[in-house]
Amino acid sequence: MELPILKFEEEIVETVRKNSVVVLIGETGSGKSTQLSQILHRHGYTKSRAIGITQPRRVAAVSVSRRVASELGVTLGEEVGYAIRFEDRTSQKTCIKYLTDGVLLRESLSDPELNHYSVIILDEAHERSLNTDILLGLMKRLIKVRPSNLKVLITSATLDGAKVSKFFSGCPVLTIPGKLFPVEILYSKGTPASYLEASIHTALDIHIREPPGDVLLFMTGQDDIDKAVKKLEERVTTMEEGSCMDAIILPLHGSLPPEMQVRVFLPAPPNCRRIIVATNIAETSLTVDGVVYVIDAGYVKQRQYNPSTGMYSLDVVKISRVQADQRSGRAGRTRPGKCFRLYPSSVYHEELLEATIPEIQRSSLAGTVLYLKSLGLADIDVLRFDFLDQPSYESLEDALKQLYLIDAIDGKGSVTDIGRMMAELPLEPSLSRTLIAANELGCLPQALTVAAMLSAENIWAQTSRKNNDKKRKPIQNLPDGSGWGDHIQLLQIYETWSQADYDPKWCIDHNLQVRGMMFAKEVRKQLSQIMQKIARGPTDVQSKYRRQNSSEDYAKLRWALCKGFANQLAQRMIHHNGYRTLSHRSQLVQVHPSSVLQPDEYGNLPDYVVYNELITTSRPFMRYVCAVKLPWIMPISEKLEKMDINLLSGGQSAKNFGSLRATSPSCNLESAQHDVTKTSDEHEKKIQAARERFLARRLKK
Ligand code: CDP
Ligand code: MG
Repeated sequence: MELPILKFEEEIVETVRKNSVVVLIGETGSGKSTQLSQILHRHGYTKSRAIGITQPRRVAAVSVSRRVASELGVTLGEEVGYAIRFEDRTSQKTCIKYLTDGVLLRESLSDPELNHYSVIILDEAHERSLNTDILLGLMKRLIKVRPSNLKVLITSATLDGAKVSKFFSGCPVLTIPGKLFPVEILYSKGTPASYLEASIHTALDIHIREPPGDVLLFMTGQDDIDKAVKKLEERVTTMEEGSCMDAIILPLHGSLPPEMQVRVFLPAPPNCRRIIVATNIAETSLTVDGVVYVIDAGYVKQRQYNPSTGMYSLDVVKISRVQADQRSGRAGRTRPGKCFRLYPSSVYHEELLEATIPEIQRSSLAGTVLYLKSLGLADIDVLRFDFLDQPSYESLEDALKQLYLIDAIDGKGSVTDIGRMMAELPLEPSLSRTLIAANELGCLPQALTVAAMLSAENIWAQTSRKNNDKKRKPIQNLPDGSGWGDHIQLLQIYETWSQADYDPKWCIDHNLQVRGMMFAKEVRKQLSQIMQKIARGPTDVQSKYRRQNSSEDYAKLRWALCKGFANQLAQRMIHHNGYRTLSHRSQLVQVHPSSVLQPDEYGNLPDYVVYNELITTSRPFMRYVCAVKLPWIMPISEKLEKMDINLLSGGQSAKNFGSLRATSPSCNLESAQHDVTKTSDEHEKKIQAARERFLARRLKK
């Protein structure tokens, strides 16, 4: 079957020839991601420069480039390659390069004009990922800088073409007519008590009653996928022999090992139905052929950041109508299909939002703001950057504050030397800052390990997952962070593994994921190379772990973490069970039950900690905490007190600032800060002093 986009080859090429920017809209599966690059390649756009195609998701970059390499009959990594964070499979020869939008942003730091490329395709623009949104703004500027030799294409399945076209001063919008077969939509009468059970039930029903055709189930995350796959497998195998055709159950999500991902693109064996259990990655990023039945419970997992509290929540939320339509569309790619929506039609029409809220309006923007400031382009003002949708003023302010507290920008909002070094590291600002501080304090090898371990999301094996609410079972012989907390534990785990010669079996025995640990090792290597390149003065990245860390080494590392996570500080409340956050609006939070942070001999948890993130699950929790000392946080609270947000924003005049502020009436930093740093701080300080006197007396006795 010829892909729809190929029928429009001439029209596409003509439009691209005549225009700098073209928006291209086409149904999922029409061939945008795999064919557009090849079309332009055929028409000479790779003669002297490369074609870059961005993907918001790592898996998509890998999977699509692999497909294109095989269609062109070349080895992946040669003419066709991909680059994702911490993994570069490209070479000198690469002229069709798939990369995540984050990697392209990073490339533009060292080459702001992106001269390496003749064409940049921002794919999956409807996902409205934070990085793609920033790239949209940058491209708008770049086509003016390189009017004669840069083409920008923005492709999407569902994007509001008119809006993007308007953003690019009326660029043409090409629409590839969808060749979808009709999809019958079936609604449930009510909303099920358990969407997981209902989905499984529906899948089995389809399997028994409906004619051949693959089934696609949308789940909210890997945990639910694993559960559903397991249950489906159990029930399918216990079905009476010959009562219906065979079925294979296939998971599909972002952290699936590559060899497992490939499986969903292979055709089903004869007389066998495939049941694919996927995250919303199968909504538009990856097209699985053969799907005739879609089961949509109407949910998606979404990370949400609240800039006034600094708190993340990972919520299961209702999808938008656009997403529901995308999901049902998956059923009509090859022939007429059916979509089972496990909710009533009134929910679809009345409760679902029209479109998903773009990530830029629900993320922490510290990394983005540092990036934009580091570009150092005179014509880019962070607060006035040309965004397709503006982020909230509050979140920009939050980002500036964080950058100031970790020394990435000075009191006037200019990027510091530290900030410039931080921007070179492919890490969140807090971890970049930690590495730089560690280099100064003489504990870089240890900090590199911690940063690498935190960057590898999946080091805990299923049963010992850090991110669920349950208390992680203590694992025999696994280091415990010496009471200082989770970062120290990560360091100790890695060191113990290195002493076991990085033996995979050691990981398995200790309930750790081999793949995650190997990834951490690779990341550590790359980070240490970057540190050697960017750090002024000597870097000590080589020291191996032949000796035990002393408590002085741990103290240095904790100090470095304190500098990196200055915006994520909490103080123990003496009269309450818990901590209160210092840098955001003061709130009461708890140490996550999975933490290895331990109370001292008097049964008290440390007075001050830094945390990796605040996440609301059943309650607000600090995840990954590390004990820090009062003298280390003194300079930070001084900065908090002196901070003038007006200046941080880059010397906006008070008048301009006023008008910006007017758009965000809820923002009230000064008074919040006043509460935190004056009134209650003084109260806590008095208690703290009293406690110190008491402890001193007791020690003397
Ligand atoms: O980007 P768009 O959704 O328009 O389509 P695509 O990803 O280019 O997919 C075009 C076709 O290639 C579909 O039939 C996919 O199933 C197929 N494909 C594949 O078989 N293996 C991949 N890794 C990627 C795409
Ligand atoms: Mg695509």
